[in-house]
This record gives sequence, structure tokens and C-alpha cells, in this order.
Amino acid sequence: MCGIVGISAQRNIVHHLIQGLASLEYRGYDSAGVAMVAADGIARIRAKGKVRDLQALQVETGLDGHCGIAHTRWATHGVPSEINAHPHVSGHVSVVHNGIIENHAPLREELRAEGYEFVSQTDTEVIAHLVERAQRGGLSLLQAVQDTVKRLHGAYAIAVVSSREPDVVIGARYGAPLIAGLGEGEQYLASDVHALLPLTRRFIYLEEGDVVEVRRDSLRVFDVGGAEVQREVKESHFNADAVERGEFAHYMLKEIHEQPQAVADTLEGRIAGGKVLTQIFGVDAEQLLAQTRAVHIIACGTSYHAGLVARYWIEQLAGVPCTTEIASEYRYRDPVVQDGTLFLTISQSGETADTLAALKLAKEKGYHAQFAVCNVPESSIVRESKLVLMTRAGPEIGVASTKAFTTQLVALALFALELGRAKGLDGERYADGVRQLEHLPALIVETLKLDDEIRELAEAFASKQDALFLGRGTHWPVAMEGALKLKEISYIHAEAYAAGELKHGPLALVDDSMPVIAVMPNDRLIDKLKSNLEEVRARGGKLYAFVDETVAHGLDAARVVVLPAAGEIAAPVVSTIPLQLLAYHVAVLRGTDVDQPRNLAKSVTVE
Ligand code: G6P
Repeated sequence: MCGIVGISAQRNIVHHLIQGLASLEYRGYDSAGVAMVAADGIARIRAKGKVRDLQALQVETGLDGHCGIAHTRWATHGVPSEINAHPHVSGHVSVVHNGIIENHAPLREELRAEGYEFVSQTDTEVIAHLVERAQRGGLSLLQAVQDTVKRLHGAYAIAVVSSREPDVVIGARYGAPLIAGLGEGEQYLASDVHALLPLTRRFIYLEEGDVVEVRRDSLRVFDVGGAEVQREVKESHFNADAVERGEFAHYMLKEIHEQPQAVADTLEGRIAGGKVLTQIFGVDAEQLLAQTRAVHIIACGTSYHAGLVARYWIEQLAGVPCTTEIASEYRYRDPVVQDGTLFLTISQSGETADTLAALKLAKEKGYHAQFAVCNVPESSIVRESKLVLMTRAGPEIGVASTKAFTTQLVALALFALELGRAKGLDGERYADGVRQLEHLPALIVETLKLDDEIRELAEAFASKQDALFLGRGTHWPVAMEGALKLKEISYIHAEAYAAGELKHGPLALVDDSMPVIAVMPNDRLIDKLKSNLEEVRARGGKLYAFVDETVAHGLDAARVVVLPAAGEIAAPVVSTIPLQLLAYHVAVLRGTDVDQPRNLAKSVTVE
């Protein structure tokens, strides 16, 4: 969750460290800090709050230097405060850390008994002391870190500096992401490539257990056993613009408007001659799809909602049983796996701790293959999976996921159609599904034209405390995603229900102060949905309906927003977009921090 940057260079790089942190702020933003190292010691600044607060402190203090580490925090152990902010220092050593050290308590006792003092409530401070102790015992910084990580249980990505070796940054990773960047006369470390795009496009994706020594003119990687290894250098195709906000007021708004392109990119090269190309899922895909007799989908948050939509598609199009489950639940039950079951994870980041743990567990459970839908190449989930389909949403910075979700739907639709074809799906239905996908970018452009109308509609929600979202079929998870967006960024309590459940409880909440939002595609459940909505009206509920233009809704609603006509594959994507816009505009009216809502982080790499 926290973000890490480390640089060894010949020039003053404090601004690059802070700039890197700003790109990583989506990972956590309750406090931030920088430590610069020189032969005469470590100079450190830390600030509670955002990276911009740290930036102000840097200007005030004039901190500079050519080698250093930096961190933006999402609190796990210890409240957000300056004292708990990283980097942590022990004598001549300074450390930043992302993850959780599970055995920090016994290590703390051991170090206390030797006279070490702890000033913070963090688990990280034990790492600083362990490295300090090892280096004081005569080890180089590299050896001291290699020695230290052997004592750590849990997940970590760390970067360490020492004034005894003032040109070196040592990084290590296990269970949390860390990449190395290669420059000319300077080398880098960071939690992800976006932090370094203004500096380089050449990266090494470190493997589990790797330790890396970063010097201004060399970069050496050592594997978990301590042997020096050559890891492949990869070129990123992103440029720094991909993480700029441009003319948009917020990243979320930019990312909502990027959806036509993101969807087009995700489809690019995946369909030819009216057919989904089977090999896009991996070399053995043809055979694996033919053998697939059931699908288990596992994910968290917004990705889980994409998995819920896919469940309907997979069962409708392929006739294959499918279950979708939250990763944090799956990993602690005893799943029963029948022969021929495919395990499918969905993750924007590819690093979500619960999803990754579920995937690792699944490998021992007799699934016939692991398939990942993911947005980050080289992420842990991608590396652990046999079949992979990358979404090509590009970097998503806003904490509330938007383009990652719609591109996941596209990837999952490609999969459901192809699995359907392998299972004898009717040719015309298959061809229609493919056509809907090909037409989708244009349809999203049409839908985005509703922006002004929805901005105005948002005013009716700005003073509300609660909202109820309703849908049926694939639009039940769409309603769930709409409710999640609203609660994440506007802090309005929002719930989603399958409309058929209304009279089993939630109807008791409906009165004239409760806005009820319904998503109404033109599908076989439309008449049933209309009856459910009549129940809302009969109780005085204020109904806001997002309706496919081909539906004769006949509703007595406070407001009807007409959406472009869309078929069974395109409709969940089209209906999601106005709900994203609604959440966005309501949050702006309420003056919340849209891109960095309170208490949340984008990449949840701790359990
Ligand atoms: C966090 C993010 C969500 C995201 C979820 C799963 O909660 O704030 O936007 O949907 O993690 O993340 P993943 O990267 O696995 O899709």
C-alpha cells in the first residue's frame, strides 16, 4: 500500500524523489518522508498529510542530496503521525518499508534487550535496528540487508541507506512490489514504474526474495539464496504523460473520459474476422477452454463486481457453472474443487494481497489452470498465472476504479464468448457479442455526452445521507459498482440490492428522503424490474432511472436519464458510465478529496 522511491545519482535528486512519491500517492497518503544520505550522516524530513506537505517542508528546510529514499504511507501499525512516518532511522541507517512484518513483536523484544530504543509504533523500526546492528557488526550494507531479511516474516518491500556507504541504496522485496529502474549515471528503485517514468523507461521487475544493490553507475540483483543473478531488462511503453492529469480537475474524471480509448486498446489485436483470437489467453488456451467444466472467479472490490457480471455471461453464453467470490473469504474456507475447474482472478493492480494469497492457495487445490485478468504487466498475479489476458486501461491513479472496471468487463466478455464458442454457443449469438464489443468504444463516447445532464442531476444527491441502487441480472453488480463509487468518494451511505430482494427488507428504508437509483437495460428482466420500481414509487421513494432508450419505461420517476441502446454484452459497460459520473459530480459538490478519499488506498498489498 505504501509507496517507495530510492535513487543513487551524481546530481541533487531530492525533487525527483518527491515527484516520484507524488505519482505513488494513490498507494497511501497519510504521511510522507524523505531521507538523504551523505558521509556525515542522514538528513530526514517527514510530514503528516500529503506529499504536497512534504514538498513544502523540503522548500522550507532546503534539504538536498544525491542519494536517498522516500516514502508515502498508508498506516497499518501506528496512527498517521510524523513520528510514525517513514523513513525510520537507527544510527547511521535509514529505512522505508511497504508491507507488514508479522514477527515485529519478538524482534522488538530482542532488540530492546540489547539496548535499542523504539520511538515509533511501527513494525518498520525493527528493520532499521536490525540493519544497523548487522552493519555495525562489520557487514557491508548489502550483506546487512541480506542478513536482516532472513529474520523477517511477512510481506515487505524495503529500501535502505547508510551514511557508512553514502552512494548506495539497497532494496529487497518479498510479497510486496518493488522495481528497479536503469538510468545513465543514476539508478532507481520504486514501488511501480509510474514513479520513475520521467526518469527512465527501462526497468527490472524484481522477483520474490530478490535483494538489489543500487549505485549511481551499477545495479546488481541477488536472488533469495544470495547468488548474483541477471534479471531481464524490460522497456515500458508508457510515457510520463500517461500519469499527468492534463486539463481535467481530477484523475477520476480523466480516467472516466479515457474509457473509449482504454476499451479500444483492450480490444486491439484480440478480434479478427468477427472472431475472438483464442491464443490471446495463452498458448494452451484452446485445449484448456475445451476442458473447462466450471469457473471459480476470485477478486476484491471493483474487480469483484466485474467478476459478478462475468458470472452471468459465462453461464449464459458457455453454459458452464461459475461462482464469483471475494478473495478474503475464499482464502480462509475449504473450497471444494471439481475436475476441470478453471481458477480466474481479476485484479487491476495484480498485487492485491488477498487475491494473490487466494491464487497461491488455488495452486494446491487441483484446478486445471489459473487465469488472470489484470492491468499491470509483470505484477505478482500475472506471474503466478498460466493464462493471462491483460486489460490495457493504462495507469489508473484515482483511487476509485473506473476505466480498470470497464476494461475488465471487456476482457471477461472476450473470455465468456470464447469459452462459449468452445462449448457450442450459437453462432449468431457469438457473432452478435463480438459485434457489440467492436462497437463499444463508440457507444461509450455517446454515453459520455450525458456528463452535463448528470452534473446537474448530482445536485439532488449532494445533501443526502443514504442512497439505494437497484438492478437485476448483470445490472445487479452494476448497481453494486455504482453504490461503491458513491460511498467511496462522496461518503454517502449507499447500498445496492438485486431489485427482486426489495420487499425482503430494504423497502422498509424507502421514504420520500431516500433516493433510489435504478439501472434498466433492455433485457428479459425489464418487466419484473418495472414492477419492483412501482413498489418504490408506491412508498413515496424518489426514483432516478438510467434507462436504455429502447425501453418503454412508463415510470413515474423523479428523473429518467436515457442511455444509448446496448445489447447484453455492451449494456453493463454503458450503464456503469453514468453511475461513475454521478458519484464523481456528487463528490465534487460535497467537496471531498475525489482522487484520494479518506481511509482508502488503491493497491491493497496487506491483508
Ligand atoms: C482497493 C481499490 C479498489 C480495487 C480493489 C481491488 O480496494 O481501492 O479500487 O477495486 O482494491 O484491487 P485490484 O487491484 O485487485 O483490482
